[in-house]
Amino acid sequence: MIISGKELSAKLKAEMAAQVAGFPEKYGRVPHLTVILVGDDPASVSYVTGKAKASEVIGIKNTTIRKPATIAEDELLALIRQLNADDTVDGILVQLPLPKHISEARVIETIDKSKDVDGFHPLNVAALWQKQPCTLPCTPKGIIKMLKAAGVEISGKRAVVIGRSNIVGLPVAKLLLDENATVTIAHSRTKDLPALTRQAEILVVAIGRPRFVTADMVSEGTVVIDVGVNRDPETGKLCGDVDFAAIEPKASVITPVPGGVGPMTICCLMENTIECFLNSVRDKNL
Ligand code: GUN
Repeated sequence: MIISGKELSAKLKAEMAAQVAGFPEKYGRVPHLTVILVGDDPASVSYVTGKAKASEVIGIKNTTIRKPATIAEDELLALIRQLNADDTVDGILVQLPLPKHISEARVIETIDKSKDVDGFHPLNVAALWQKQPCTLPCTPKGIIKMLKAAGVEISGKRAVVIGRSNIVGLPVAKLLLDENATVTIAHSRTKDLPALTRQAEILVVAIGRPRFVTADMVSEGTVVIDVGVNRDPETGKLCGDVDFAAIEPKASVITPVPGGVGPMTICCLMENTIECFLNSVRDKNL
């Protein structure tokens, strides 16, 4: 079975649109997401455009602020502080990666935790690992939603996550653990990786290398979640970390690239924006 993140996200976006349609009457306004894009990296431009389009479909107000790659760190931090103080802004997202002269850590920690729709702020990350209420990072949250929608039982399963980034690998491992999977976190330097991945009942790959996972690494019936977004070196087309054509016949469930995890990430970003908005309007009514 191929899980279409595109279809699931379209359904969830329609539900959010219906929810947001009632907000002006209930709360006097709609949620407002502000996205900051520094520079003009084509992949980042495309991601930011996708976020603006999804906002429009749902009825969320989207402001995209573009700044040149030469912007000074101080100026970017000042902009974030200004948005933190702006009561009409519910969510702030700074598209990563940033130019080398800007510290991503400083940028992320400057965003107010209550407006951190990415779930990247250290206080959000700490809350996640301490099982406290928090904003869940979008890609891991989207993966769990997809697994559940596909009817995959996570509890009791052996899960292997390849990749240990703050954005995907570590938090997705934590969310799988919270669903009672037994989780191993692996990486490109893990010894005899194929022997490990063959044991996986759920395999999540977030390593950023085209066709890194080959058919010999996957057992019959495995659930395969491909988080990779790469350019195929031969065809130039978008492709995942998994050799889809070779593995699809073996997998019980697999996500395609494009059209798998990617749309779910954006969908969860929209959900997080609505959550931040609701927390804000509720706080103000107390
Ligand atoms: N760059 C790639 N993925 C993401 C994401 O989820 N959030 C942000 N802010 N930047 C990204």
